[in-house]
Amino acid sequence: MVADGNRRGESYGRAAVGMATAGRGYDMRMTSLHERRDEVAPRSMDFGDLCIDFDARILEPRPWTTAQSTWAAELLRSAPPGPVLELCAGAGHIGLLAIHLEPRPLVCVDVEPVACDYTRSNAERAGLGDLVEVREGSMDAVLEPDERFALVIADPPWVPRDETAHFPEDPVPAIDGGVDGLDPARSCWALADRHLLEGGTAVLQVGTVAQVECLDAEMRGVTRLRVGEVRSFERGVLVALEA
Ligand SMILES: C[S@@+](CC[C@H](N)C(=O)[O-])C[C@H]1O[C@@H](n2cnc3c(N)ncnc32)[C@H](O)[C@@H]1O
Repeated sequence: MVADGNRRGESYGRAAVGMATAGRGYDMRMTSLHERRDEVAPRSMDFGDLCIDFDARILEPRPWTTAQSTWAAELLRSAPPGPVLELCAGAGHIGLLAIHLEPRPLVCVDVEPVACDYTRSNAERAGLGDLVEVREGSMDAVLEPDERFALVIADPPWVPRDETAHFPEDPVPAIDGGVDGLDPARSCWALADRHLLEGGTAVLQVGTVAQVECLDAEMRGVTRLRVGEVRSFERGVLVALEA
């Protein structure tokens, strides 16, 4: 499986760490110290109506993913009563924008503590702190067996492992999807299957339509979820999984 044309991070424009100073020891040391400080400096960006903080230890929010939020909000208007689950939340922006547009309780899950801290502070900043619970840990380990959600938003890492080096700006754990890029997406699918209310929907992000087809073929007969609409964008694909 090759995550063909849809590349994470290509357009983010942070300068690659410095070939320009190679061979000049002192300058090179100073440059790299300076760059390291820059890399953890908090940054902010507009994401829909929200202002989202993040830093280089987590994936930079990608503007096109507002489409995942607006689709989720659209689905929430006719979803059964119940909370929203966001798997692989990063800084939390996709789920936060969804519930900013269509208020519901939101449980955000990420294994990366820095990402969880940003989700908490981004929720407060958006005035959504009372609606948001952040769970820090692997998605397989932080849900109770009887928990049910009206909607699941999932944005797992989906880059095949041997292609992660193509994205030097991105933290590897945030994009490494295992050998074929689909291991975390498989986990998200299984969790959505287990935890979605009847009539609920998951909006899953992957890299390519070919990845959707691969998952669909693999899951047929072993999942109650039906593959619904697929929406393709220049840098990723969204698929609705209907319970
Ligand atoms: C592709 S990033 C998406 C982050 C965010 N939604 C965004 O748009 O920037 C994937 C996220 O999944 C998280 N992650 C990876 N494996 C995980 C796991 N097993 N359980 C929970 N989160 C995981 C990473 O820490 C990372 O924040």
